[in-house]
This record gives sequence, structure tokens and C-alpha cells, in this order.
Amino acid sequence: MCGIVAYVGHREASPIIIKGLKRLEYRGYDSAGIALMNGDLNIYKKKGKVAELEAFIATQDTHGSIGMGHTRWATHGEPNDENAHPHYSTSGNIAIIHNGIIENYASLKKLLLEKGHTFKSETDSEVFINLIEDIRAHNNCTLPEAVRLAMHEVVGAYAIVVLSKDSPNQLIAARKGSPLVVGIGEGEYFLASDATPIIEYTNEVVYLNDYELAIINNGQLDIRTKEDVQQTPYVQKLEMELESIEKGGYEHFMLKEIFEQPRSILDSMRGRMVAESDHLMMAGIREFENKFANASRIIIVACGTSWHAGLVAEYLIEDLARIPVEVEYASEFRYRNPIISERDIVIAISQSGETADTLAALELAKSKGATIFGICNVVGSSIARATDAGAYTHAGPEIGVASTKAFTAQVTVLTLIAMIIGSKRGTLETTKLRELMVELETIPAKVEEALKLNEQIIGISEQYKDATNFLYLGRGYNFPVALEGALKLKEISYIHAEGYPAAEMKHGPIALIDEQMPVVVIATKDSSYEKIVSNVQEVKARKGKVIAVVTEGDTTIPAMADHVIEIPETSEHLMPLLSVIPLQLLSYHIAVMRGCNVDQPRNLAKSVTVE
Ligand code: F6R
Repeated sequence: MCGIVAYVGHREASPIIIKGLKRLEYRGYDSAGIALMNGDLNIYKKKGKVAELEAFIATQDTHGSIGMGHTRWATHGEPNDENAHPHYSTSGNIAIIHNGIIENYASLKKLLLEKGHTFKSETDSEVFINLIEDIRAHNNCTLPEAVRLAMHEVVGAYAIVVLSKDSPNQLIAARKGSPLVVGIGEGEYFLASDATPIIEYTNEVVYLNDYELAIINNGQLDIRTKEDVQQTPYVQKLEMELESIEKGGYEHFMLKEIFEQPRSILDSMRGRMVAESDHLMMAGIREFENKFANASRIIIVACGTSWHAGLVAEYLIEDLARIPVEVEYASEFRYRNPIISERDIVIAISQSGETADTLAALELAKSKGATIFGICNVVGSSIARATDAGAYTHAGPEIGVASTKAFTAQVTVLTLIAMIIGSKRGTLETTKLRELMVELETIPAKVEEALKLNEQIIGISEQYKDATNFLYLGRGYNFPVALEGALKLKEISYIHAEGYPAAEMKHGPIALIDEQMPVVVIATKDSSYEKIVSNVQEVKARKGKVIAVVTEGDTTIPAMADHVIEIPETSEHLMPLLSVIPLQLLSYHIAVMRGCNVDQPRNLAKSVTVE
């Protein structure tokens, strides 16, 4: 949440920062601002999107080869010009951009007010910069030293960049709990919340660790811990392609990402499975295969869509590997004194790899001796680095705030894990394993087929775009898909939607059904098909409008449903990879027809680095 970017070098800083902020806008888009050094330390900031800031600075003097910018997802204080970053200190000599939350800001603010500091905003970030200024004055020390000492005073999460009038060639950055990447170019440096603002300039990066600060001064990078121990920068090569973060002709990132799924699913299994030669191997798991095979329990922690992928994994792992699985909301797990043993394996699933609750949940499990396995999409992210082992989902950058291709990539990786453990434990017999491998290889082509439903789904969306409520029903492997379909619709179209296991409907939600209620039923041919046929009848008996997702060639449900979306046949274990596709398209088109900003829905951010 919140995106930060900074530059120092030989080019004009402002265009680099503005472009970088646009790339980071998925992290928050309540307001945006920029600070530029050009003799003086000038700050321009505006409520709204980066485009509004860009229009505003078009008439200002934006020269300067050092600067920093911020795009905000509001935590403390409503989205307005004052609360937008950067923030000056009381003297106006130093300024800060901040991503994160300072938990003890109220007590620090009280102290600082007593000492005569003044505040223009309601933000915790303005408290941080005044604290730095106060420490500097009090200790008569350098600015990097004051930042380092301030790191001992603040409680919470932060990635910050500090600029000072007195040191016009210096950028100071620090992190704890919020991501920060340093890009190293030829005589220039970049700082950003992720690598996307950096890749077109350099592929050499250093990921800052928690409690480290980076001081870039006169072309030199110095990294220190908050205990002032100098660190050797660990320079890594970025493998991201520029085109993967551009829209490539699609109207929205979300649509592009939906259509990328044949590729991203394939990439997530590539090198890990070849059915023909019985090759099934995941580097991240190899060392832990015995641990997995002997685990007394697997606990999956995640949030949102990643939690839904975890629910699919519960069905897969319990069925194929016969190990008990618990799927936990990371935010609940971390605060409820869970029972964890050393024979437990905790799988943390996170697209961004930065979700604060998921990170805290895995740290808790780690402290209790569990083995932690991570499934992340963003290489080098905090969760990826905090785990004992893991497997990346090779979905490529996901920029639309609503997660689509990350979900199917997570499910792909989790399917491989279930198959690997099942075969190691002997609970998945060889013939069944082979069948599943062969079938999994056909999934990218079948997703391609499912994407051809786009036109038909546009037609259905037209009819239901003005609905005020939706119900999504599924059973077995399609139950998490029902939850995911409902989440997708509500987050981007602002239509209220609920997902339910179909049989639960008669325990309450059935009361909602009347002729106004669209009910999306995922009723593919699987072991609970007969049961879901009865559930469709129950909806129809109450005059609900049924939009059914069925297996190609089905004749029973089409005879009852108002709309039928046919998807290719596959094993029920793999069905979520196909059945989620029409639901993603349905929410996308409904949201577009309602005039919503699908890539940046209100109040949301892509990477939730606050709890
Ligand atoms: C929904 C969505 C969110 C995320 C959730 C977890 O479309 O994107 O629900 O799934 O915030 O994020 P990650 O996977 O980055 O931990």
C-alpha cells in the first residue's frame, strides 16, 4: 500500500518519478506527490491519481536531477492535498515519503508538539520526519545518523525516503516491513517499492532488508543496519521484461491478465512437470519432501484471493496426499494463539509477497518451530525471503488490483505440490498420478477454449449489470471458486455478492432468492453433480435467475438454467483452473459496463502492507 519512487543521477528526475508512480499506482491511488531538489526543496502534491499530479506540475518548474514521489493509499487521515506525501519537517529543510504505518505516532506527536514542532497533516509520516528533525537537532548529528536513530524510536512498518535541502546529492532510505528496492544504474540510483519503475533503466537491484538504511550520496551507495553495521550490498539481476508491465493493446490490465492465463499456468508448471517422461519435481520442495511426507498437518495462511487458492489446496492435498489441512485467514491466525508443532508445515500464499498479515502469521509459526513454505509471485518479496523454502508462481507481474492470473498460477503450483506429496506418501497411485499429469498439461489449451466464451459473457453481463445482489454457489472443488467469483464481482463492480457452498443455501441465503436475484451456479460434472442439480432446482423453484457454468455437453442443467456457460471437461481436481475463467470475465465486463475503474477499484490497493 502506497508506492514510493526516488531518483538521483544525471537525468531529469521528474519524468522518471512520474512514470514510476504510474507503474506503482496499483499500490494506492488516493493522492500523489513529488519532491524535487533544484536549489530549493520543492514539493507538489494533489489528491487523486498520478495523472492529476502530472497535469498540475506541467505548469511548475520541475527541473532537478534528484527527487522522490509517492502514490498514497490512505491510512492516517483522509485523502486530500494536505495528507498527500511528501511531507516537510517543521523547518521545511527535510522531507519524507513513507509507505507503512507508524503505530506509536500519537505518543510521538504529543512529545514533538510539546517541543514546538508543527503539523500540517494528520499523517503518521509527518510525525516521522519531525522526529528525524528533532533527533538531528538534539544530537547535532548528520541526517543519515538521525534517520538511523529514529528507526529505534518508531514502532510499526515503514519504507521511507528522506531528502534534505542541505545535502542536494543525497537520498536516504530505510525499511522495516514495507518493501524497498535500490536500482543501480550507470552513475545513477533508483529507489522504489518494487522493481517496475526501475527495469527500463537497469536490471541490477538490491533488495533492502528490514532495519537497514541505504545512504546514496555523491554516487556512492552505503547500506547499514540500524545498529550502524555496514553491509555489503547483495546485487541481484532482474529478470522481468518491460512488456510484461504494459497493457499490450488491452483496455485494462485485468483483461490482459485474464487472457494471459494459458501462458501463466504453463509457466507455473514449466520445468516442474512433463507427463510424457513422468517428470514431476519442484526444486523448492525437494529438500523438504520428507518433511512434507511426514507432516502431521499442513496449515495454509493467506488473505483474499490467495486464501481461496488455499481452500482449493485443502481439497487437493487432503484427497491426493491424505494429510490434514487447515486453511486460515492470516489476520485471524496471527492473533489467536494457534497450536503449532514442529511437525506442522505452514504454507504462506501471497501474490505480492508483502501482505502484512500473511508475513506476521508465518513469522509466528516460524517462532513456534513449524517449517514454512512460501508460494509467492513477486521474486525477492518479503514473504519469499522469510520462508524456509518455497516455489514461485510464474504468473508475471499482476498489475490489475483484482487478482486473476495469480490465482490460477497459485492453484497450479498447489496442484503440483499435492501430487508430489501424494506420490511420495504412496497415497496417490501411479496410474492416477499419470492421468492427472496428462490432464494438467491440457489445462492451458482448455483455458484458451474457456476464454472464447468472452463474447457470450459480454451478452450475459449486459442483462445483469444493474443487479444489486448476486449469489455464487459451488460444491467441492468449485466451492472456493464460488467465493472467488463473488469477491471478484464485489471488489470491481461494487455489487454486493456472496459465495456459498451450494448446500448451505437452504440454511439461510435461500431467503434472499426471488426473481431479482442472479445466482451463478458452478455445476460442472464431478462427484457432487447430482447434488448441485437439486440445488439449481431449489433456486428455480423460487424464481431466481440461474447463470450456470457447466461441462460441455451437459443437458440436464441447461434444461433448467436461464443462461448456460459451457466449459471444457476436466478432472474435478483441476476444475477450478477452468471454472474460474468465466467468473473473472463476468465480473470484468459488468464492472466496465457500470463505468467502474476495474484496474484500480475504490478503497483497494494491490499490496496490503498494513494489518
Ligand atoms: C482480490 C485480491 C486480494 C488479494 C489479497 C492478498 O482480487 O487481490 O484479495 O488476494 O489482498 O494479497 P496477496 O496475495 O498479495 O497476499
